[in-house]
Amino acid sequence: SLQGLDLRAEIDRLRKERNAVILGHYYQSPEIQDLSDFVGDSLELSRKAAETDADVIAFCGVRFMAETAKILSPDKIVVLPDMDAGCSLEDSCPPAQFKAFREAHPDHIALSYINCSAEVKALSDIIVTSSSAEKILAQIPADQKIIFGPDKHLGGYLKRKLGRDMLLWPGVCIVHEAFSETELLKLKAQHPDAPIAAHPECPPYIVDHADYVGSTSGILDFAKTMPGDTLIVATEPHIIHQMEKAVPDKNFIGAPGADGNCNCNICPYMALNTMEKLYLALRDLQPRIEMDETLRLQAKKSLDRMLDMAS
Ligand code: 13P
Ligand code: SF4
Repeated sequence: SLQGLDLRAEIDRLRKERNAVILGHYYQSPEIQDLSDFVGDSLELSRKAAETDADVIAFCGVRFMAETAKILSPDKIVVLPDMDAGCSLEDSCPPAQFKAFREAHPDHIALSYINCSAEVKALSDIIVTSSSAEKILAQIPADQKIIFGPDKHLGGYLKRKLGRDMLLWPGVCIVHEAFSETELLKLKAQHPDAPIAAHPECPPYIVDHADYVGSTSGILDFAKTMPGDTLIVATEPHIIHQMEKAVPDKNFIGAPGADGNCNCNICPYMALNTMEKLYLALRDLQPRIEMDETLRLQAKKSLDRMLDMAS
């Protein structure tokens, strides 16, 4: 039984014993963020995974992130504390349907958000993250036709912002989909001077009210440099932990869902990772990401293009 164990101390002991690096996303619990060797957005975490000389990567995030780490660092053992930590965007895009969609549009290239399965990455030409999408799109000739999946809100945001037509796959992030415009406007009325920072996975009726739109790391940077003392944060609320650490004298308010508070916007997949499961993953080196080598190499092509084009 794990009762009575000092989990933090055990995790620290095992991380040394295993020569493991713990990578954490901003949507993880504060205690997991605080023990991670590195916390970042999807692009930064991919880069860290590609560069590390650790023997083991313990990925505190969701499965597509751990898969990305394995694709880029095949000789490492990659563990994910809970293998059920999926993503609604990945679920919305079954590879067979995506393949059929591509085949129906043979003159289009497929630009895919990193929030998808390794199979969909293998069916794609270029991967993007929210922090790299604009830079990558700017390098694609204007007359090149593009399929963008699986996030229709990120795709729609890019279409509006860059004036670029793309065919969109109809996926959404259930977390960002749950923000309420009515409740956001009520909150804004109480804090009229507070800017709003939003993730581009939010629907347009949220993004349209935002003073800043960007990835988790982008939103965190905005929090560090913004004028004023209060920020309304329209992304998964666990990122507020980093803001409070970086700028303790400012006030960060999570954007509300329909019930008027931000707890319905906690990512249920990210929340599957716990201290207990991280400890067990480091102890047992399970659950482990395994991948067919043909699939890995095919998925790596589109990921490598992202890493090249984003740098
Ligand atoms: P970024 O950290 O790249 O902004 O991604 C957000 C997200 O929803 C990850 O699942
Ligand atoms: Fe997927 Fe949204 Fe959770 Fe990120 S926050 S893992 S996009 S469901």
